[in-house]
This record gives sequence, structure tokens and C-alpha cells, in this order.
Amino acid sequence: MILPERIRPKHRDAIIQSLRAGVVPRTGQQHIQVGRAAEVSAIVRDLERVADGGSTIRFVIGEYGSGKTFFLHLVRSIALEKHLVAAHADLTPERRIHATGGQARALYAELMRNLATRARPDGGALQSVVERFVTSALTEAKTRTVSAEVVIRERLDALSELVGGYDFAEVIAAYWRGHDHGDEVLKAAAVRWLRGEYSTKTEARHALGVRTIVDDSNAYDQLKLLARFTRLAGFSGLLVCLDELVNLYKLANTQARNANYEQILRILNDTLQGTAVGLGFMLGGTPDFLLDTRRGLYSYQALQSRLAENTFATGTLVDHSGPVLRLANLSPEDLFVLLKNIRHVYAAGDTAAYLLPDEGIHAFREHCAKRIGEAYFRTPRNTIKAFVNLLAVLEQNPGVSWPALLGSVDVKVESNPDLAPLPEESVEGTHLPDPQLSAPDGKLGQDDDLTTFKL
Ligand SMILES: Nc1ncnc2c1ncn2[C@@H]1O[C@H](COP(=O)(O)OP(=O)(O)OP(=O)(O)O)[C@@H](O)[C@H]1O
Ligand SMILES: [Mg+2]
Repeated sequence: MILPERIRPKHRDAIIQSLRAGVVPRTGQQHIQVGRAAEVSAIVRDLERVADGGSTIRFVIGEYGSGKTFFLHLVRSIALEKHLVAAHADLTPERRIHATGGQARALYAELMRNLATRARPDGGALQSVVERFVTSALTEAKTRTVSAEVVIRERLDALSELVGGYDFAEVIAAYWRGHDHGDEVLKAAAVRWLRGEYSTKTEARHALGVRTIVDDSNAYDQLKLLARFTRLAGFSGLLVCLDELVNLYKLANTQARNANYEQILRILNDTLQGTAVGLGFMLGGTPDFLLDTRRGLYSYQALQSRLAENTFATGTLVDHSGPVLRLANLSPEDLFVLLKNIRHVYAAGDTAAYLLPDEGIHAFREHCAKRIGEAYFRTPRNTIKAFVNLLAVLEQNPGVSWPALLGSVDVKVESNPDLAPLPEESVEGTHLPDPQLSAPDGKLGQDDDLTTFKL
């Protein structure tokens, strides 16, 4: 890899701070990225299809610590460069793809908070997307010498054929009226609606005159609408990145879990049939989440048959055209290049300012290998943290030599928190189990799908 000349201080600091905290940098991943060339080109083709009005879904599957989150963030950055709007969120027990107790709306709201564009890579870009829609309509109205309302209504017509499209269009029209009359309250109400932050229909009707709100039952339809809308606003489409899908695997309640898998199947089918326009999904999860036939995606027959991997692609042969994208663990060579990249970023791209020679990196690797074995490159988070800490000490203590420091570098094996025992599977039978029974600690809420189950 050819190292870039200089790295902007803003990027440098952000990358170093993230790595030191053990989290994946949100921007500037290209400065440290290693490997994944084939995977990236497969995804670039996906994103081009989305930008062309198509759709895509990928399951990014890799072992604990193998680089799933890093890869999703990288894809997100590429999407922003390609003028897509990108949103990302981690699944948690309180944020799910399907729910009846508010968790799907919570996921949607989180995605909207993290909505990013190239100009606003840190999120919070929803209002600016709407603003761009309005201003471009105003420009068009001027050149055609028609009223802005006419242009806006024409553009929004494209949405009305979709589920929920009528109210969505009404909300955008309300934003425009607010824009036109200098009514900040109305604009804020429209944005609040789009962010999925109204919890009652009455409130939304009073503020905006619409009958519906974003809720658990329509969160996915809203994403489809938003994808279309981003295109009407001049962007290329919408990329939705969901991480930590293992949280679905961990759902103790079979009904709740299957409902989530059914929703994933719906998304997959929409993508394969081309009914979603300008919309891409990237879902990050561990092999258990995919392959486990009791709790994973494979426990849901229709998904298993659609996601079954190409049986010809074994050993060193790969096939990146199916929806499942397998990420191999990083290799020792990858990690060596990664450490060099980090050294380069740390020096802000100035080779004369390197704090450690290549031989120091080798010695560091050997030290880690001795301490924690293969884990040093297979689950590199801690190795990376230790390396950045080492660089920080070398930087702030110019008199100190690296060999003297190496011996005191502490690096620990990471343990996968997802391997903790799962809560007991709820009893399935002809009667509904008492929700109290499935929550031995007396806490309700985790399996509220049961309490709100409709007969
Ligand atoms: N291709 C890569 N290039 C450079 N650094 C990488 C790459 N892949 C992963 N990393 C680094 O390795 C560490 C672990 O990666 P990451 O957090 O993405 O793993 P993960 O698979 O999401 O882990 P988990 O299973 O815990 O969610 C991070 O510090 C990340 O910055
Ligand atoms: Mg991760």
C-alpha cells in the first residue's frame, strides 16, 4: 500500500483517540485500513446499484473482534463519498428490527439521530436533507416560473404510491410551509415526526395534521420512503448499517426472535425482487447469529435456504456475489501493516517523525505473541490499544528508548461477552407462558412481546 503524504490533524486525532479507547474510528478509516480489497470492491458495486435506484442487502459475518464494525464504518464512509445518505445503529435489547413494545421505533429513531451525509459525517443530518429538498425545489420553481408548491407536490407525488407515503408527503409539505412562512415551530414539528419522536398520534395530528406516526409497525416502510426521499432531495439513496445483530440471536423469546427474522426476510425479499428503490442494508453479526440452527438466522427455514453459502466456494475459493459476506480474521501480516499504518497516522503522515523503527514494530509483535498468542492478531483491539499507548509514552518522553519500554507493555486477551450463557428459552406450548416466569429476576420488559401479544 502507498501511504498518503500528510494526514489532517483533525483526522489524526480522531483516529488515534478512537483506537486508544478500543473503538472503531468513524472517519478516516482508509488511513489505517488493511486487507479487505475484494470485499470492498464487492460492496462498491452494491453501492453503485443503490445509487442507480436499485437495492442491496449484505450480511457481514465475522468472528468476535475480526473487524465487522470497522468494515461497516468503512462502507459507510464510501457510501457518503458516493453521495448516499447513511445511517447506522447497533441493535440492543431496546433496539430491534421488529417489536411491539417500542423497540423498533427506538431503532428507527437511533438511525435518524445518526443519519449522515458527506457534509455532515458525524450524524444529525436529517434536517439538512429536508432543507436540500426544499431549496432545490425552489430553484426549479424559479427556472420554470411556477410556484414552489407545484414543484414540491409534483416531486412528492412519487411517494404517495408507497405504504405511508401520503402522510410522509404531508409532513414534508408542512416543513415547506414552515420554511415559506418562517414558522420554526412547524419546521421543528416536521423534523420531529421524521425522526420518529412523536409517541402519540394525537400530538402529531395537532402539530402537523397527519393521522399516523412512525411506530414499530411501520418503521421499515419509513426507511423505504426515506430512501426515495433522499433521491428526490438530490442524494443517491440511503444506506442503513445495523451492527451487533447477535442481539436478535440472544432474544430469549422465540416468538420475538422469529418476528425479527421474518422482518429480515421481508427486507431480503424486497431487495431480491427490486421493490425497494435506492436502499441498501448492511447487517453485521457473528457466525453464531447466522449459522445457529436453534437461534440464528438459520433457525428460520426461509432464510436458511436463501442465505445458504455457495458450496463451491470452500477453502481458498471465494464468492462475494451472495448476500453473505464472510470476513476472515486479520492475519499476522495484516496486523504488521496495520501497526505501520498507525505509526504513520500517529506521525500525521510525516515519515521523519516516526516514533519507532520497523524493527520496533517487529519486537512489539513478538512481545504480544508471547503474552497472548494468536489473539494478538485475531482479535487485535487490545494489541492496537497497547501499541497506541506505547507511541504516546514514546512521544511524551523523548529520552526513553523503545526497547526499554517494550518489556512493560501489558496486553490482555479479549473475551467475547456474547459467550456468556443465554437466558433460558421460554417454554413454548399451547398456552402463553406467564411473562413473570420468564423473568426470574422480576424485571419485565425484555420479553414484552409476550405481554402485548395479540390473540
Ligand atoms: N481491515 C482493517 N484495517 C485496519 N484495522 C482494522 C481492520 N479491521 C479491524 N480493524 C481494527 O481491529 C479492531 C477490531 O475491529 P472491530 O471492532 O471492527 O471488530 P468486530 O468484528 O466488530 O468486533 P466485535 O465482534 O467485538 O463487534 C479495531 O480496533 C479496528 O479498528
Ligand atoms: Mg463490532
